[in-house]
Amino acid sequence: MTDNGKIPNIETNPELITVAMPKGRIFEEAVSLLRQANYSLPPEFEDSRKLIIEVPEAGMRFILAKPMDVPTYVEYGVADVGVAGKDVLLEEKRDVYEVLDLKISECYMAVAGLPEYDPKADIAPKIATKYPNLASDYFREQGEQVEIIKLNGSIELAPIIGLADRIVDIVSTGRTLKENGLVELETMMPITSRFIVNPVSYRTKSAAIDDMAERIAAVVEGDIFG
Ligand code: PRP
Repeated sequence: MTDNGKIPNIETNPELITVAMPKGRIFEEAVSLLRQANYSLPPEFEDSRKLIIEVPEAGMRFILAKPMDVPTYVEYGVADVGVAGKDVLLEEKRDVYEVLDLKISECYMAVAGLPEYDPKADIAPKIATKYPNLASDYFREQGEQVEIIKLNGSIELAPIIGLADRIVDIVSTGRTLKENGLVELETMMPITSRFIVNPVSYRTKSAAIDDMAERIAAVVEGDIFG
């Protein structure tokens, strides 16, 4: 909301850049990256329950979305740009430009299961995952026929409780697998967060979006070489 208590309206300021930010574990790193790129974001970013935060002095408005929904907001153009994990982009396959690897929230996607599980002995394996499209694509490329079971979280439960034979999930520290007695069976792909852009906004607001991408890229490059 703005100071007068109203929800900010894009129609009143068509030059505003709307940024879709992922709530949750990526959020803090993404906010820190923007601050390093000299965007003075208000403290309410961290401790508010607001889902829309306007920063008029930066010509920006932020929407705080579920990570899996960020590419949807950007594809439909209600957000011009966004921060989304590569995992989410591979899963959602939305029509957005992936402009920059932000190199934050590094983790990887893996297949995991119980230590005694023998993939070769299993002819019709069940795979539990939050990423049904990504998992289907992966096993199709491997030439393996599997049954995908979509879950919304706590994926590691599935093999322990007997719902699935294997899981496909994000591994960050590896703690969740370890503490639940699971082992990694295959490493699939590295994952980082990306700066994504709506194709129409990329043309109509090119100056502002290029400026934003350049400022962020300078920080990302600085992190690598500095
Ligand atoms: C993610 C992921 C793993 C865990 C991996 O879950 O699905 O469960 O983090 O992290 P680690 O390797 O550092 O242990 P998240 O915490 O997002 O919750 P969820 O299970 O509800 O999806």
